[in-house]
Amino acid sequence: MPDFGFEEEEFSTSLDRGTIWRIANEVKHHWKWVIGFMVAVGWVSSLESYFTYLSKRILDEAIVTGRSDALISIISIYSVMILFQAVGVLAFIYLAGILGHRVQYELRKKLFDHLQTLSFSYYDRTPVGWIMSRLTSDTERIADLVTWGLLDITWALMNIITSFVFMVTINWQLALIVFAMVPVLVVIGVWFKQKILVEYRQARKTNSKITGSYNENITGVRVVKALGREAENLTEFGVLTDEMYRSSFRAAWLSALFLPVVQILSAVALGCIVWYSGGQISLGGITVGGIQAFIGYLTFMMWPIQDLARVYASMQHAIASAERVFSLMDVQPDINDSPGAVDPGTIRGDIVFKDVEFFYDKDKPVLKNFNLTVRQGETIALVGPTGAGKSTVVNLICRFYEPRSGTIMIGGRDYRTLTMHSIQSRIGMVLQTPHLFSGSIRENIRYGRLDATDAEIEAAAVLAGAHEFIMELDKGYEGEVGEGGNLLSVGQKQLISLARAILAKPEIFIMDEATSSVDTLTEALIQKGMEVLMKHSTSFIIAHRLSTIRRADRILVIENGGISEMGTHAELLRAKGHYYRLYTRQFRQERERESGLYELNSLEMAQNSN
Ligand SMILES: Nc1ncnc2c1ncn2[C@@H]1O[C@H](COP(=O)(O)OP(=O)(O)OP(=O)(O)O)[C@@H](O)[C@H]1O
Ligand SMILES: [Mg+2]
Repeated sequence: MPDFGFEEEEFSTSLDRGTIWRIANEVKHHWKWVIGFMVAVGWVSSLESYFTYLSKRILDEAIVTGRSDALISIISIYSVMILFQAVGVLAFIYLAGILGHRVQYELRKKLFDHLQTLSFSYYDRTPVGWIMSRLTSDTERIADLVTWGLLDITWALMNIITSFVFMVTINWQLALIVFAMVPVLVVIGVWFKQKILVEYRQARKTNSKITGSYNENITGVRVVKALGREAENLTEFGVLTDEMYRSSFRAAWLSALFLPVVQILSAVALGCIVWYSGGQISLGGITVGGIQAFIGYLTFMMWPIQDLARVYASMQHAIASAERVFSLMDVQPDINDSPGAVDPGTIRGDIVFKDVEFFYDKDKPVLKNFNLTVRQGETIALVGPTGAGKSTVVNLICRFYEPRSGTIMIGGRDYRTLTMHSIQSRIGMVLQTPHLFSGSIRENIRYGRLDATDAEIEAAAVLAGAHEFIMELDKGYEGEVGEGGNLLSVGQKQLISLARAILAKPEIFIMDEATSSVDTLTEALIQKGMEVLMKHSTSFIIAHRLSTIRRADRILVIENGGISEMGTHAELLRAKGHYYRLYTRQFRQERERESGLYELNSLEMAQNSN
């Protein structure tokens, strides 16, 4: 069975007290609202018990005796109480709405703020879907617990307490008989609840696997089809849905059984009431109205007990959600500003790597003993085979990750003594997979410097070479880029990212050239945009284009976790090493492509190798 990465425990196995305290702690500053809410709920539920008591009085004091004045006075009390109850209902629904929204908003904000502080390494190991669920459904469930969960509990408790008080006033012996039934019912209710939950939990687990599998198969539909995996996937699906069907069936069967069992028990309790009170009526121990009230109270007490399974399940649900939300809140960022970190205002763009070692996974070193000194304003091109560590070098400069040992100095000081913000705000970057945010093109460019004017944005776009294609779009700068910029091509996204970087006037410019081919015209535009930045900033270009490489002040060949060759284009060509081979191969390919010979040649090669 494939692991889809979204499988998770839907229920907390117990109602962990630590988590409940922590939820209480999160909402404690709303204590006035919570108490107001509980008072309103308690008020409404107590009145419910009181109405049953009033019905008893109507029967005994007015109907049986035929006294209309008593009827009028009791009905007047009833009417006033109904009004009070209506106010109570209004109050608790209003308070629940406000409380729920506030709790949810605060939790989301707290999580979102926390997410901004987490390091890249956290995002490497955590699926986006997992984080999204924490932000959305989990915070919603916690808010539901604080409102509707609290309502259920307060309502049930107040109902049982007030019913008991009224029953004792009517006939205490009978009240004790009814009350003795309560523990029996609770035990049975809990037993059923546990059985149902086990099955339900299993069904949910399978369901989340099914969703994960849907997700994978839909997003990867092309691969599924291309590899002819439809049949295997269908079988896999069959197994999962069967599993889910069986668990759901058992849960449904147990739920169906639960109600009749409770009803039979209620009937037994009712029988006891009638049997006992039959004898009491002739002795004057109870009235007809009293019996009727007892029957009413019995029903009252049954409600919460019947509902126990649902309330308990939703509490477990919410507690599991809270556990996940708190686990995310507790993740510490790997990279933090050190206590004395300063923001020097401007930074000089000279950069030194000193004995830097780095790995993502312990047993797979990416950079070993890496040394490099870059002067302010220099343009460095990084070349080398895929997976050699080129992107890693620039990730370290941006401090997305920190060296495991050794140091990186920016402007003459260890960059750990500077604040993250002071470094990252002075770096302009265009990444290998450029990312845009949903919104207009203008907004995306402005992201480089929030106080930029429209004219500055357009000037940056002109310099980046993006202006022309933007003007050809229907809405120009106001055109939407779609989620993650998916309405634009990779080349266009790079041009916009370039404009964004130009606008920021960074001291350090980093470009991870996309390996995916862009057309020659866009390539030329990107090249021009880059030159603007390269002129003013210390630049690191991970280069695939010969034109970029040739123009760099220094070229580094990255191989096996270190720099295997370094020098200008001419020097490296003379050295006739790796760079020479790389360059001549690319150069030939480019020439051949230009003259249209390329395809012919590869065809020839393919035939030769067969
Ligand atoms: N986030 C990550 N988590 C774990 N390993 C990673 C991560 N990013 C990169 N690596 C590994 O580190 C090594 C260097 O990767 P890097 O991205 O720096 O290569 P690159 O030289 O930029 O390659 P390319 O030319 O394909 O972009 C690779 O072996 C890669 O598998
Ligand atoms: Mg890379």
